[in-house]
This record gives sequence, C-alpha cells and structure tokens, in this order.
Amino acid sequence: MGNHALTSVNIQPLHLMTTTTLTKRNLPYIALGGVWEQDDVDAAHHVIAAAVGPNGNFFPLPEEPEFQKALASHEGAKFAIAVNSCGTALDLCMIALGIGPGDEVIVPGLTFVCSAGTASARGAKVIFADVDPQTLCLDPKAVEAKITPRTKAIIPVHFAGHAANIEAFDVISRKHNIPIIYDAAHAVGTKFRGTPIGNAGLASCYSFQSNKNMTTLGEGGAITTDDSEFAEKVRGLKTFGYVYGAKLRVTQIGYNYRMTKPQAATGITQLAKIDRVVAARLKNYQLFMKKFGELEGVTLPSGINEDHGCHLFVVRIDMKRLKTTREEVVKRLKDSWQVGVAIHYPAVWSWEAFESVEYDNSHTPVTSEACEQVISLPLFPSTTVEEIDYLVVALRETLASFVS
Ligand SMILES: Cc1ncc(COP(=O)(O)O)c(C=O)c1O
Repeated sequence: MGNHALTSVNIQPLHLMTTTTLTKRNLPYIALGGVWEQDDVDAAHHVIAAAVGPNGNFFPLPEEPEFQKALASHEGAKFAIAVNSCGTALDLCMIALGIGPGDEVIVPGLTFVCSAGTASARGAKVIFADVDPQTLCLDPKAVEAKITPRTKAIIPVHFAGHAANIEAFDVISRKHNIPIIYDAAHAVGTKFRGTPIGNAGLASCYSFQSNKNMTTLGEGGAITTDDSEFAEKVRGLKTFGYVYGAKLRVTQIGYNYRMTKPQAATGITQLAKIDRVVAARLKNYQLFMKKFGELEGVTLPSGINEDHGCHLFVVRIDMKRLKTTREEVVKRLKDSWQVGVAIHYPAVWSWEAFESVEYDNSHTPVTSEACEQVISLPLFPSTTVEEIDYLVVALRETLASFVS
C-alpha cells in the first residue's frame, strides 16, 4: 500500500477507525467471492469422470433438463432453456422475434454492450431511452416517449440486481403490443415486489458468466418464459432447429448455442445455494452502507432490500466536487489501497463499434451523467466485516483526498 493512503486521515465523518489501525488488504474486483465451492467442483468432476471409458459421453441428459427445471422453479417461470451465455440468449430472442433492418429496439444506454448489440447485430436501429435516476433501470416513461410504429421490442435491464419496473412495462407492452425481453444477466435471485422475475414480459435472459451471482464453469446463460410457443421456438433455435420426438424433425434453421453437460451439472449445485449467496451479498451491501453513512457527492445504491439480487454494488460519485477524474479515483484506489473497482458501465454509444451502427441517444441526460459517475466496489458473499471496514475507509479517504 502506498504511504499516501496511510497518512491522510482527515475525513469527516469518519467514525469507524483511524487508518493506522487498518490491516493492509488486497481486494481485487475479478473474484468469485465465495460463489464457487467444493460441491460445484465435485458436480463437474463427477460428469467429467463418468465420461471416461468407451461408452462414456457428454450428451447433456439428465443434467440439462434437471437444471432447467430448477431454474424455472427458482425464477418463477414455466420454462427455462439453458444456453451458453446471456449474449446468445438475447440473440435467440431477437431471432425468434424476427428483428431485422427497419425495426427499432429500445434499450438503456447504461448497460453492457450486448444488451444493445444484440439488436444491432440483427440490423435493427437501437433506440436508447433514459434510465430512472434512483434505480438506474430503464425508465418506462422515457421508453413510452420513444415508441414508434417501428418499435419491435424493448429490452429493460435489471441493473445491478434491481428489478426494472415490470408492472409499468407490462402496461406498455399491452398498450402498444410490443414484446418485452428482459436482460436479467444481473438478476438471478432478483424479485419485483416480492415475486421472482423469471416470467416477466415475454422472456428473460440470464447470465452465468464467471462474476455473476451464480456461474456454470465461467460461462453460461438461460432464457425463461411462460410462453410455450416462444419456449419451443428458442429451444429449437439453440440446437440446429431440432425438435426431438418419436421422429426427429428440423423445423427451423438454427444454431448451436447449447450448454455443456458439466456446466449444467454445476448449474444445479449453484442454484441449490443461490438464496444463501444472495442473502450474504445483501448482508454485506447493507453493512457497507451502514458503515459508510452519508458523504456529500456520493450516492449509494437504492432499493437494497430482500428484492434486490445484489449483483453489483454501484456507487455514484459526483465528479464535479472532485478536482480529478474518475480514472484517477480508480487508480488511487488500486495503487494506494489495492482495491480493484469496475465501471458498470460506460454509455453503450461511447464504444467505437457504435460509430458504425444506427442508433438514437437523444434525451438521455440521466444515463449520460450516471455513466460518468459510476464505480462498482468489490463486495461479494465472502467479503468479511474487516474487509468492509477497509473498503469504507479506502473509498472515504480516496474521495477526501480529491475534494477541491
Ligand atoms: C447486463 C448484461 N447483459 C448481458 C451480458 C452478457 O452476458 P454473457 O457474458 O453471459 O454473454 C452481461 C455480462 O456481463 C451483462 O452484464
């Protein structure tokens, strides 16, 4: 740890401890944080070892159906279709809806690039609508203002694990007859007013990539839906258009977006403990917020309660109060405190790939501001109280050292 951090202690209100009592820590952002355990290793090992021998194989049965059943049940949906990522889940939904050139798809600009990229990849025009300043999820009113006869889908994101306003989007969907596809990459375990979110809209797309609330060997995803026709369509699309039955049929031109057997096996063990994992995240988020208290120019996440999936701990920093840049804040946290942080997210339209695709990002002031302010802290299920104390002091001191 650099000396700078240990010598600047004059921050108000700092009622926790002095920096001299702190033990040095190394808190990287990229970490499984206690999500991955021995039972997951055993589950993967079991199917890998069972495939040894002339009759062994990696065909998914019975793990995949078992995993899909458990996911659908946990997320409150009738059907779950396992795939190899959330990106491919979103792609399949766009393909199933027949999205193409001339269509418009409404998305937030404060999201991972693929929530929007999936519509661009089909040749549709991406329409960015603004996010709600409290939740940072897509704002239904802003969405409604952007609907045109060309709007073919809306993709709200349950940002950081906070549910988007499903009730308002249901109303919009019915009124304008537009399907809602939720990007639920952050949202295994998220609830909307006490109810799991897996049957919201037409479909929800989940991610089990390495740093998500649960992971299937580092990659993986799923689509959940209550719509049997849509389920059948994406189920076929993910596996070359096959329809299994007494006679194998190929009913549509499809792809190979399948999840592997070892992945599905770990999905079962991961899901079995997801409630414990999300509860541990929630406890740590609440502890951090209690210990950090209030600090002018810092907005802590809102709606941190039993409904929140607690996937990302996103803090907003009013950069106008500091005589530095966000990059310098990130660097100071890393260099002086060994605290890794992430940015979720730069505005989607700021990526160079979006220079060459059709989009509209007008009237999105909340998104533009938030994208300049956000940093995500490394708070995981396994983060200890001592580490939380350290993170609180690291963030307070870092910010105090830049106040103009
Ligand atoms: C909001 C959001 N959507 C989609 C994705 C893509 O997920 P995957 O990596 O499983 O394709 C991510 C991944 O980080 C994400 O954060």
